[in-house]
Amino acid sequence: MSETEELRLGVNIDHVATVRNARGGVHPDPVRAAVLAEQAGADGITAHLREDRRHIRDADIADIKAALTIPLNFEMAANEEMVAIALATHPHAACIVPERREEVTTEGGLAVAGRENELIWHLAAIKEAGIRLSLFIEPNPEEIRAAATVGADIIELHVGRYCEDEAGRPTELLRIQQAAALAEDLGIECHAGHGLDYDTVAAIAAIPQMRELNIGHFLMGESMFVGMPAALAEMRRLMIQARSAI
Ligand code: PXP
Repeated sequence: MSETEELRLGVNIDHVATVRNARGGVHPDPVRAAVLAEQAGADGITAHLREDRRHIRDADIADIKAALTIPLNFEMAANEEMVAIALATHPHAACIVPERREEVTTEGGLAVAGRENELIWHLAAIKEAGIRLSLFIEPNPEEIRAAATVGADIIELHVGRYCEDEAGRPTELLRIQQAAALAEDLGIECHAGHGLDYDTVAAIAAIPQMRELNIGHFLMGESMFVGMPAALAEMRRLMIQARSAI
C-alpha cells in the first residue's frame, strides 16, 4: 500500500457554497468544486448540510452524490430530518457533528459520552442501511469509548484546538496521538479534521493510525490564489512527506 492510500485526503467544499450564497445566485457552484477536487486527486468529498442551510443545500447534496465517483462523506446533525436525507442520499459515510445555529463553524466535538442510548436510537437506521457511521469527537478517551459503544465505524478527531492554540500544541498533539492509538485498539478507523493547513498538517498526518484528513476552509481559500489542483497537490505533498518520515 502506498503512503497516499494509507492516508486519504478528503476535501470539504462547503465554503464554495458559502460564497455562492453570499449573492444568492448559482456561482460559484459547489458541485463543480467537488468534481474539480475529484479530478485534482481528492480521495473523497465532505459536505455538511446544516440545519439552517447556510452553505450546502439539499439539492447540492443530491447533485454532488450523483456527480462523484469517489466517496461522499455527508456531515450531519443527529436528528430525524438529517437521518432521512442520509438514507435517501446513501453516502459512503455519515459524519455526525454537533450543531448550534449561532456558531460560525463546528466549534467542538459531538458529546457522545452520556448520550450513547439516544445516539444509538437516532443512528441505527444509518448503520442498518450500510452507511459507514463516523462521529466527530474531541480527542479524549471517554468520548472514544462512548463512540465504540454507539457502534461507530469511524471517529473523526476534532483537531481545531491543536491548529489554533500554538502554545498548547505539544500537549494537544499528545492527546490526539493517544486518541488515535485507542481508536485502533477498539477497532475504529481514525480520521481528523478542522482547521488543518499547510503548517499544521504534517504532525497530524504523521500519526500512524490516521487514515483520512478532511480539510476545507484553508484549501478552498488557497484555491482562490493558486487554483484547486495546485492547492490539493501541495497538501498531498506535505501529507506524503510526513508519512514517509514515520
Ligand atoms: N471535518 C468536520 C467534521 C468538519 O465539521 C469540518 C468543518 O468544520 C471539517 C472537517 C473541515 O474543517 P476546515 O474547514 O476547518 O478545514
